[in-house]
Formats: sequence, C-alpha cells, structure tokens
Amino acid sequence: MVRIAVLASGSGSNAQRLIEHFAQHPVARVVLVGCDQPEAGVLQRAWDLGVPSYLFNGAQLKDGTVQRELQGQHIDLAVLAGFMRLIPASLVKAFPQRIVNIHPALLPKYGGKGMYGHHVHEAVVAAKEKESGITIHYVNERYDEGEHLFQATCPVLPEDTPETLAARIHELEHAHFPVVIEQLVDAFGR
Ligand code: GAR
Repeated sequence: MVRIAVLASGSGSNAQRLIEHFAQHPVARVVLVGCDQPEAGVLQRAWDLGVPSYLFNGAQLKDGTVQRELQGQHIDLAVLAGFMRLIPASLVKAFPQRIVNIHPALLPKYGGKGMYGHHVHEAVVAAKEKESGITIHYVNERYDEGEHLFQATCPVLPEDTPETLAARIHELEHAHFPVVIEQLVDAFGR
C-alpha cells in the first residue's frame, strides 16, 4: 500500500477530494492529514472522514519533528493541498520526488513567497489576465519552483472578482488533483 500524507493549512476541500478518491483505491490510501493551523477546517474534514490528523507548528517543521513523524508512519508521498509553509531542505532531501504541491495559478507566474490562496487570485484579477489555472509540481526548498507535473487552464472573465475566480480554480483543482496524484502513484510501481 502506498501511504499518502496530505499536508494542509486551510479549509481542506482538496484534502477531502484526495481522501475520498483514494478511499477505495487498490494500492494507495491517504493515511494522515498533517496540519499547522489548529483552527483549520481540514481537521474537521479529516475527523469526519476517519483519517488521523497530526497538528504541528512551524518550529517542528524546521527542527525535523515533522520529518520523523512522516518517516515513523512510513509515508511514501506527501501531498501539499493548501499548505502555506515553506518545506525545509532537510525534508525535501528525506523525500526526494516524493513531495508534491498544488498552486492556484500558472507557475512561474504568480508564485513565490506571499503568493498563496486569495493573494494569488487578487493579483491575477488586478493584472487583468485573460487566463489562469493550476500547477501541480514537485516541491523543492524554494516556494513554487519544483519541476512541473501538470497544468490546466481556465479563463479569467472581465467581471471576475478574486472570489469568483477562486471558485473556478477550486473546481479545476478538484477535477484534476486526485487524478494526477493517482497517475504519480501508479508510476511508483513501474
Ligand atoms: C487551493 O486553491 C490551493 O491551490 C492553494 O490553497 C487553496 C486551498 O484550498 N494553495 C496555495 O496557495 C499554495 N501556495 P482548500 O483548503 O479548499 O483545499
């Protein structure tokens, strides 16, 4: 069984899609939800879906505590689904090509420190972009810079607000993220 940990900081709608997608999967399962925000909605979602959660803080991410927890739980793949902290180089090294992130824009545009969640959609709408989308990529020790696995696009309409664009991007994420992660997991066996 491929053991997946989902790391999230917010509402957790993508985490939920991943948990549900892999609940019946023959070779992979989301076995842990890691979270750095005690008030995050993702914790309730994990509880409701019967997936154990692990709450940690920024210091524990940096000092190796989180790495030891993931290794202790024999995690094969860590999936960042709305996780807002930088992954330390030591953790990247411990999980080579085994940490994947989703970003709500077409990287390399609208990425980097401070570009997360609604900040991204605000910047895209303010720039009057005609198109936005999602990027699923391997994680390295710099924000949003790892090798791309997948991108999908959607239009940005003249009347869009950051909120309406966020809703369109979320739909795109929910449709593609579990499938891309499944393809990645399937390739592990080959
Ligand atoms: C998603 O749109 C994800 O792409 C974004 O946070 C949202 C989380 O939504 N991630 C980032 O901005 C990372 N830089 P969710 O909590 O409903 O899954």
